Amino acid sequence: MGKNLITGGLGFLGSRVAKRLLDDGEEVVLFDIATKSRFIKDIEEDKRLKIVQGDMRNFAQVIEAVKDNDIDCIYHLGALLANEAEASPQTAYEVNVNGTYHVLEAARLFKVSCVIFPSTISTYGPGIPDVVNEDVVQYPNNMYGVTKVIGERLGEYYYHRYGVNFRCVRFPAIVGPERTTGLSSYTSVMILEPAMGRVYRTYVDESVRCPFIYKNDAVNALVSLRYADEACLKRRVYNIEVISCTAGEEAAAVKKYLPEAKIEFHPDKKAVEILNAWAKDVDGTRAFQEWGFRLQYGLEETIKSVIDEVRKGNITG
Ligand SMILES: NC(=O)c1ccc[n+]([C@@H]2O[C@H](COP(=O)([O-])OP(=O)(O)OC[C@H]3O[C@@H](n4cnc5c(N)ncnc54)[C@H](O)[C@@H]3O)[C@@H](O)[C@H]2O)c1
Repeated sequence: MGKNLITGGLGFLGSRVAKRLLDDGEEVVLFDIATKSRFIKDIEEDKRLKIVQGDMRNFAQVIEAVKDNDIDCIYHLGALLANEAEASPQTAYEVNVNGTYHVLEAARLFKVSCVIFPSTISTYGPGIPDVVNEDVVQYPNNMYGVTKVIGERLGEYYYHRYGVNFRCVRFPAIVGPERTTGLSSYTSVMILEPAMGRVYRTYVDESVRCPFIYKNDAVNALVSLRYADEACLKRRVYNIEVISCTAGEEAAAVKKYLPEAKIEFHPDKKAVEILNAWAKDVDGTRAFQEWGFRLQYGLEETIKSVIDEVRKGNITG
């Protein structure tokens, strides 16, 4: 089995993909502009893990990382996320678009067997149906979404033109106790803060419905798509099953496991307005039919797992 390169490997999701691959007995190279990360403490001593510091905007550094490490699969997770992208659209273009182009070119030149790419349901713009499938057109009104649509189309182009085995999942918000920033972070923090014994004053109202997925299922989606049978895949980009509940329903479910939980709703008008324009639910039928993806963590399993991590002392802060 060849090695995996994870761009953005020191990040929240990249580090969890690395942990999963190491647990599966694979070798992993993390490529990241960062030099330190609180997310890799549980894996940094593993001898099968290598960290390469580099910038995806630099083509030579991407090429070198792929060539020198005999890379067989790239999990291309490095990116600027929504808030950072909006704060600096030009940098977001360079990192998310040029970086993706560099990864695809490296995959083409060095015959990498698979490129796995996480896109986002933020690629859908305003005026969409409540439930989105892959046929809904993407007109994002934010730079992050724009760069991810470009990444999706570029990956499809490399597949059709050069046979690069590009495979992509569009994620909703990813929940984990480590995820405490970003507009959709209330989905995580609403569990984390009560689990830490603290009051959570959220910026949304009870009716906001922002789809999400637990981090373990996000990792599972990427790894199972990498190993999906090519003959069964009818497309390169998939929507997947998500958890879709209102903030009020999530708060009620948290209280079921933490009866003392104090969750107060202090809605921020602007935040609520933006979240209400997002898709309310996602149709993951094709991912299920073509590569068998189903959530293993529903709302209650997600809550229990976050509480468990806090109780084990894995999460501080
Ligand atoms: N977290 C979510 O809710 C979510 C939802 C949908 C899609 N995604 C996608 O999943 C991927 C991982 O997200 P995450 O939550 O782990 O984000 P993160 O911010 O924790 O990780 C991103 C990593 O990319 C690295 N990076 C940034 N610029 C770089 C550059 N120029 N060169 C090399 N590395 C660079 C950062 O240092 C960071 O470690 C991203 O592509 C993101 O768009 C995340």
